[in-house]
Amino acid sequence: MRKPIIAGNWKMNGTITEATILVEELKSLLGTEELPCDVVLCPPFTTLATVLDLVDETLIGVGAQNMDYHESGAFTGEVSPAMITEVGAQYVILGHSERREYYGETDAAVNAKIKAAFQYDLTPIVCVGESLEQREANHTKAWIEGQLEGAFKDIPKEEAMETVIAYEPIWAIGTGKTATADQAEEVCRDIRKKMAHLYDVETAEAIRIQYGGSVKGSNAKELLSEPNIDGALVGGASLIAADFKAIIDGT
Ligand code: G3H
Repeated sequence: MRKPIIAGNWKMNGTITEATILVEELKSLLGTEELPCDVVLCPPFTTLATVLDLVDETLIGVGAQNMDYHESGAFTGEVSPAMITEVGAQYVILGHSERREYYGETDAAVNAKIKAAFQYDLTPIVCVGESLEQREANHTKAWIEGQLEGAFKDIPKEEAMETVIAYEPIWAIGTGKTATADQAEEVCRDIRKKMAHLYDVETAEAIRIQYGGSVKGSNAKELLSEPNIDGALVGGASLIAADFKAIIDGT
């Protein structure tokens, strides 16, 4: 059985003061009971240390939203895998569509970043997803298969099994327009099939696949009840403690 994983991608939101208020509120809502799923918060780099301190002694995990794949050097503005591991984070989101669209991130870069993440004991959350034009042209399956081939090139089976894949249709991100549970399940099932083809059934069955795109407390349960949807990558709703808690409760 795959353990569900709910991750909050705060994107470029949250000063230290705001992050502190949000995490304290979430902690008090979640209480001290065992969590029903893995819960991960991905705040901006500047609040990683604060959030890590705040969730210390809880079961909440923490991840970065991006990283460079180089060890160190003249890469102004970038953050290395070692820096993220050293601060104490356990996860890193890679290949988010916003990184691909605004910062030109390619499948080859995502591939290099996955390799670097494993070298530094970080669990990658690898994002894939199609645009509205691609969906309307019936190119979703082929496009996502291409993204997976690029991202997982030369990644060994043991690492692929540990990777989390987030299916995020670009047209559903921040738009309030969620994919239906059927639409999301269909693509997540295709992703699992493709991973079985790239590796084997054992690997594909081990990989956790999240859906992301306007997930909120009110629609989480339906999406998460689909057999191939093992969690959610949540943007906007992860900034509202009660809504994020409702999504966790939907697992
Ligand atoms: O990484 C999260 C996604 O981009 C979804 O964002 O929940 O605000 O639509 P959203």
